[in-house]
Amino acid sequence: MAKVYVFDHPLIQHKMTYIRDKNTGTKEFRELVDEVATLMMFEITRDMSLEEVDVETPVATAKSKVLAGKKLGIIPILRAGIGMVDGILNLIPAAKVGHVGLYRDPETLKPVEYYVKLPNDIADRELILVDPMLATGGSAIAAAESLKTRGAKNIKFMCLIAAPEGVEAMQKAHPDIDIYIAGLDEKLNEKGYIVPGLGDAGDRLFGTK
Ligand code: PRP
Ligand code: URA
Repeated sequence: MAKVYVFDHPLIQHKMTYIRDKNTGTKEFRELVDEVATLMMFEITRDMSLEEVDVETPVATAKSKVLAGKKLGIIPILRAGIGMVDGILNLIPAAKVGHVGLYRDPETLKPVEYYVKLPNDIADRELILVDPMLATGGSAIAAAESLKTRGAKNIKFMCLIAAPEGVEAMQKAHPDIDIYIAGLDEKLNEKGYIVPGLGDAGDRLFGTK
């Protein structure tokens, strides 16, 4: 069964309060999403493997460590996932970025895929699928399926806010994908919005309605 991690770091929780606030404008919202994505990535990469190397300091040779093992791929779910990419690249600038375009049909709440472009070596990469919102779970489930169909083997899912319904659906559909969340909320409303949530993530990031 997939593990679920809810980040309780004070800096993440502090910034999430302002992300949720309806009075936070587009510019500040975008900056905060970026910052929280960086902080979450810092936690997620805690278990990355290292290897020992020798490095010459101005004084002597030091035994030191560099990252080893699988390379990363960041896969934002369009549109809103784009808001988290730069924050992640701040920490891992060499990561490759693929895109999965999905929107949620407002009537059926079912995801509709409209675009997929991925690095050609995704099978060899550790992939972080990112989207600010995990509501019914339909979008994340479909995006992960899309990645697996194209060869992905190692996926983590990272979101800002999740509803319990979405977490359960995602765990059931993809028991191999661990889920990383900054805020686990109460429920979905009748329109499939997370309560209390933050509203429509794409609209708040890009200033649309
Ligand atoms: C939002 C959000 C997720 C999805 C979550 O995207 O960014 O992708 O809804 O809902 P779900 O878990 O019920 O599928 P939306 O469909 O509004 O598209 P957008 O990012 O293009 O605005
Ligand atoms: N998508 C959003 O952007 N917000 C929600 O609360 C649910 C889905």
